[in-house]
Amino acid sequence: MEDFNKADQVATGTLEHYWMPFTANRQFKQSPRLLAQAEGMYYKDVNGRPVLDGTAGLWCCNAGHGRKAISEAVSKQIHEMDYAPSFQMGHPLAFELAERLAAIAPKGINKVFFTNSGSESVDTALKIALNYHRARGEATRTRFIGRELGYHGVGFGGISVGGIGGNRRTFSQQLLQGVDHLPHTLDIQQNAFCKGLPETGAEKAEVLEQLVTLHGAENIAAVIVEPMSGSAGVILPPQGYLKRLREITRKYGILLIFDEVITGFGRVGDAFASQRWGVTPDMITTAKALNNGTIPMGAVLIDDAIYDASMDAPEGAIELYHGYTYSGHPVAAAAAIATLDIYQEEQLFERTKSLEGYFEKAVHSLKGLPNLIDIRNTGLVAGIQFSPSDKGIGKRGFGIFETCFKNGTLVRATADTIALSPPLIVDEAQIDQMVNTLSDAITTVG
Ligand SMILES: Cc1ncc(COP(=O)(O)O)c(C=O)c1O
Repeated sequence: MEDFNKADQVATGTLEHYWMPFTANRQFKQSPRLLAQAEGMYYKDVNGRPVLDGTAGLWCCNAGHGRKAISEAVSKQIHEMDYAPSFQMGHPLAFELAERLAAIAPKGINKVFFTNSGSESVDTALKIALNYHRARGEATRTRFIGRELGYHGVGFGGISVGGIGGNRRTFSQQLLQGVDHLPHTLDIQQNAFCKGLPETGAEKAEVLEQLVTLHGAENIAAVIVEPMSGSAGVILPPQGYLKRLREITRKYGILLIFDEVITGFGRVGDAFASQRWGVTPDMITTAKALNNGTIPMGAVLIDDAIYDASMDAPEGAIELYHGYTYSGHPVAAAAAIATLDIYQEEQLFERTKSLEGYFEKAVHSLKGLPNLIDIRNTGLVAGIQFSPSDKGIGKRGFGIFETCFKNGTLVRATADTIALSPPLIVDEAQIDQMVNTLSDAITTVG
């Protein structure tokens, strides 16, 4: 009864002050979806109703919810030292976490810059790229190349290199200058219902050669892509595509940044997609599952060569004019170290690999349902795409998301694609439950 009153009160009165991000505020406030508790694979809404987490929150909670080791580490750290200044001062946990991240990063990537979010990680990586070229006497290298449908957060840097029209249009007159976009790699005609990485489409990387010819390599700082685009609806890299990007960037001295804010920490198998798909970039941006989503934190993982070149400043000089009050925050760092321990002790990245076959079979069993035009999957992530309804783009996707939620499973809708990305602790029965709820919702919504 108490819970009900809480929900009721929130629904009628107290929702008005919070301007919610990437949310249809008016629609939400008429019919709110409020979560109040989380444990293991399940949320509970404010009425105590269990909701299976098919999305690891927002691609964050790879170790599942309510992990005691994390909350204990956080609580201990707050008691011990709540905060330490991050400029010209340090504390041991940030160094320890950096060392732990270097240990799981691809070979040669051993330096870490801490941020508070994926957006900040992206803007940080772009700035480090400019700083690096400048430090090496190549200050004309300022152009960035992103990709259509890429999502790199919401900072001005991130939306400039990002390629989702809706996120850019309102701000288009103030985006970074000197940004180009590679074509995206979604090709439903060629690759619909393919399992794992599509076989065709690697040639889309060749557009980078054209951009180099157009602008001159001496003017290009970095290429940034998500190894797999998550937010635009699970768009996979064709086989050989990332390798080709690496070859071309290396040939011309252009830095390659992988935005692994979603793919990092086991989503596609290894610690990073870079390792699973055998391509090592110069920088990797991370956030989200870094500390299981418990406390805002991000990190940019950086190749030693970039760090070393950037240290070429006079003795005592600050080498990079960039940083955040909360860079390497001790409490967030404590949460991250406890999270990395769980990933390691429970072999959760391995678990993705051992479950991906079952997950693939389960999601592909949806083929044939009404209006379903593609299913894409890799690791423990899948995108299930529908044709738009005649009510407009995104209406069908939203209807399926809402119906799933009412029926006890949280999925994510991006336009008319439903994404599944459960915590890596998911078991086979829960995968079945997720897929069955989705199947019913697809049929109900039509
Ligand atoms: C690939 C990628 N980069 C950056 C971001 C932005 O992260 P944040 O929302 O923490 O700023 C996201 C968020 O979903 C993302 O998926």
